[in-house]
Amino acid sequence: MASDTRSTTARTATHWQRFAVPYEFPIVFTEGVFDPENPALRDVLCRLEPAKRHRVVVFVDDGLNTGRAPLTEAIVQYAQRHADVMELACAPVVVPGGEKIKSNLHFVESLQQTLFDLRIDRHSFVIAVGGGAVLDAVGLIAATTHRGVRHVRIPTTVLAQNDSGVGVKNGVNLQGVKNFVGTFAPPFAVLNDMEFIVTLPERDKIAGMAEAVKVALIRDADFFAWIERSMDALATFERPAMATMIRRCAELHMRQIGQGGDPFESGSARPLDYGHWSAHKLESLTRHHVRHGEAVAIGMALDARYSVLCGLLANGEEERICALLEFLGFDLWHPALVKCGASGEWAILEGLREFQEHLGGELTVTLLAGIGIGVEVHEIDRARMRQAMIWLKERASS
Ligand SMILES: NC(=O)c1ccc[n+]([C@@H]2O[C@H](COP(=O)([O-])OP(=O)(O)OC[C@H]3O[C@@H](n4cnc5c(N)ncnc54)[C@H](O)[C@@H]3O)[C@@H](O)[C@H]2O)c1
Ligand SMILES: [Zn+2]
Repeated sequence: MASDTRSTTARTATHWQRFAVPYEFPIVFTEGVFDPENPALRDVLCRLEPAKRHRVVVFVDDGLNTGRAPLTEAIVQYAQRHADVMELACAPVVVPGGEKIKSNLHFVESLQQTLFDLRIDRHSFVIAVGGGAVLDAVGLIAATTHRGVRHVRIPTTVLAQNDSGVGVKNGVNLQGVKNFVGTFAPPFAVLNDMEFIVTLPERDKIAGMAEAVKVALIRDADFFAWIERSMDALATFERPAMATMIRRCAELHMRQIGQGGDPFESGSARPLDYGHWSAHKLESLTRHHVRHGEAVAIGMALDARYSVLCGLLANGEEERICALLEFLGFDLWHPALVKCGASGEWAILEGLREFQEHLGGELTVTLLAGIGIGVEVHEIDRARMRQAMIWLKERASS
């Protein structure tokens, strides 16, 4: 749309620039993404220019490149089989998996140096294969190299497939502050492959389920009921149940981002971050010994009890939520929750201020007004939150 001049005085003329950019990217659910006979990745790369041979750099999470048939070999074979449309700019680059890659800017610089050395341009592809941490770090370098190189995500954990990988954010940590350096940058495509979940340690399979419980609690009572009905199958990681859980959770995240009206979170709300204000703080208080999903499970239990204490959620529903989380394998207590900070107050409560600071604007915390009904509040009563914490502690020790 053309710019217009809305106000002109003797000294000032203000022209308003205005345009909208539609975003569109496929999220493909497939199995055996690097099986040479599977065209899913090939099709994604060719989406805009079918006749071109595309240059590709692949970064691989080191947690995946183990065992007798390293993933890097499968990627090389895939590229050879599809050499008419893709060319690896170098052998797949193995990078540190987990929070390590996000915790030191040295890794960002070194990955960017790789793209520089390979003369990667804006029409080349940067593919990340890995957990949420690797996707966050590689997503950041893809978004900032030449102001944005095409980025394909291949998430390999439950959490990355059902939440972070299908979203539009990336980021790394600075001075221990989670995601302090990052951008909003929708990927070119996402490929979710259930086969990766098979090798994932049980601890990470459990952790990722927290995000499914979360999105069910705030958005979809039927999905919550399904998780309750399927909890035996989920607790033993049965593949069909895991696949359904991941897909439904990913769809609900996609819907919020696509239709929620604020994909780049410029308002004060973080509608998908139920249970997260304390979770982020617990992660940093434990120096990431507690996984994101594990911390979110505790944060959800805490905020569920707080919702009951506020009269928002019916008494007993918090117990129902805790029972489900525990059945799925979560531990709902950690001693760091009552660790004191410099002020003598529980350090976890500083998480409220940090949650607000990360976003700016007023404090917005999602609570529950029922199963499937998230509500936003702008104030948290600390005395009541302490009560909720004590409830959680006593519950864990009884
Ligand atoms: N960008 C977002 O919107 C967003 C949202 C939520 C979380 N996150 C971030 O995601 C990160 C957590 O991601 P995560 O839970 O996926 O864990 P992770 O990336 O920390 O990975 C956990 C471990 O699993 C290994 N691994 C990954 N895939 C594997 C597989 N298939 N088999 C065996 N091992 C495998 C990794 O090497 C690592 O050691 C956090 O940094 C969090 O802040 C980002
Ligand atoms: Zn989360």
